[in-house]
Amino acid sequence: MKNQITIKKLIKPFRKEIFVSSDKSISIRCVLLSSIGLGKSKIFNILESEDVINTLKAVEKFGVKYLKKKKYIEIYGVGINGFNIKKNTILDAGNSGTLARCILGLCSAINTKVKLVGDESLSKRDFNRVIVPLKSFGVNIKSKKGMLPIEFTGSTLLKPIKYFENKGSAQIKTCIIFSAINTPGITKLKASKSRDHTELMLKSLNYPIKIKKTKKFDLIEIKGRSQFNAFDYHVPGDISSASFFIVLTLLSRNSELLIKNININPSRTGIITILNRMNAKIKIINRKKYKGENIGDLKIKSTKDLKSINCPQSLNSSSIDEFILIFLIACKSSGVSTFKNLSELNKKESPRLDITIKFMKMIGIKVLRNKDDIKIYGNPNLKLNNIYHSKNFLKDHRIFMMSVIAALTFGGKKWTIDNKESIRTSFPNFLNVLKKLGANIN
Ligand code: S3P
Repeated sequence: MKNQITIKKLIKPFRKEIFVSSDKSISIRCVLLSSIGLGKSKIFNILESEDVINTLKAVEKFGVKYLKKKKYIEIYGVGINGFNIKKNTILDAGNSGTLARCILGLCSAINTKVKLVGDESLSKRDFNRVIVPLKSFGVNIKSKKGMLPIEFTGSTLLKPIKYFENKGSAQIKTCIIFSAINTPGITKLKASKSRDHTELMLKSLNYPIKIKKTKKFDLIEIKGRSQFNAFDYHVPGDISSASFFIVLTLLSRNSELLIKNININPSRTGIITILNRMNAKIKIINRKKYKGENIGDLKIKSTKDLKSINCPQSLNSSSIDEFILIFLIACKSSGVSTFKNLSELNKKESPRLDITIKFMKMIGIKVLRNKDDIKIYGNPNLKLNNIYHSKNFLKDHRIFMMSVIAALTFGGKKWTIDNKESIRTSFPNFLNVLKKLGANIN
């Protein structure tokens, strides 16, 4: 199969309702948590993507069985400390940082040697961020320069820790919470703001976790070794996947879109706050609550008079995966947009800050960079006439999808976009949804 697509035409005006793929963060957490619940969990509308399949394969190696039914997946949880792992097991996390980092916490108490590996992209990412707290719990970990492959043996003598998570990373936070579940006593975590799906799920399971929210940090206390039962979960749509269509609609002519059943947890909706401040009028309707999570439908209309933003750093973590799309809006806005302290963007599936700066320069946008701060000089009249090639050296689904949205809205004679297969990790149906809206993609 050709791993490249070409686009030669702008998308025509559309008025439609769509669903996007299910939430990846929640799907992965459902699998990991149900594996240590007691009994049969049923996960409805789980994301069927490579990252989630790799999560299922990983817990299967721990002796957790699962069964795919028509409407849901059944996962037979073995309870905390119930994993049954063969010696020298190799876990392959593929492209998924969330799986790789969270599973290290989940199996911190196993007494067997396990090796964790990943694909080329994941093997370039930092694991010291989880190795350091796991070592303080008492886990034995060996790695070269804090990267994969990692060899680890958990410990049956884990001790609770006090830790300050200062990167605003939900993966680090979840890794610590999972390890705390395996550890007798109370682990205390001061965490910079990041998505809180793990905490909300544990609360909905009546797990003894206390959370005190302050303006900048969450103070979390987890009591270890408290067994919970299997659960049912209906996974909502992923706002990170919806964001490609939010930006597509804003940048298209005379179009309107309703994106249904999206998780709008405030720790994820930075993109809506930011884009509305840039003059978009994204509306959330049909709001409801589900197991502590907020869910709603998103209504978006094309917007001609987009304006620049001086983006407050406090919105960085709630829009971390969406910045590359927000930058596209900044390219088309009047005025100069500023974004600060984006170092975490270079720690993703590929160095996204470096790559999107190159991308914006390729399409003729002036961008100034000072370390991890950038200024984007918007051009509301941006119209492209050249031939473009968006290269995707490391497998990065979001770089591929962002390039497709740019090609469908900014014009140009012909776009070639590499690594179509990367969408399998998070949004396998991405190109089909675009085609349903009328996009011409070869
Ligand atoms: C995720 C957390 C974020 C995000 C990633 C998913 C999660 O990573 O970028 O796509 O599900 O916990 P960090 O924790 O590294 O910020």
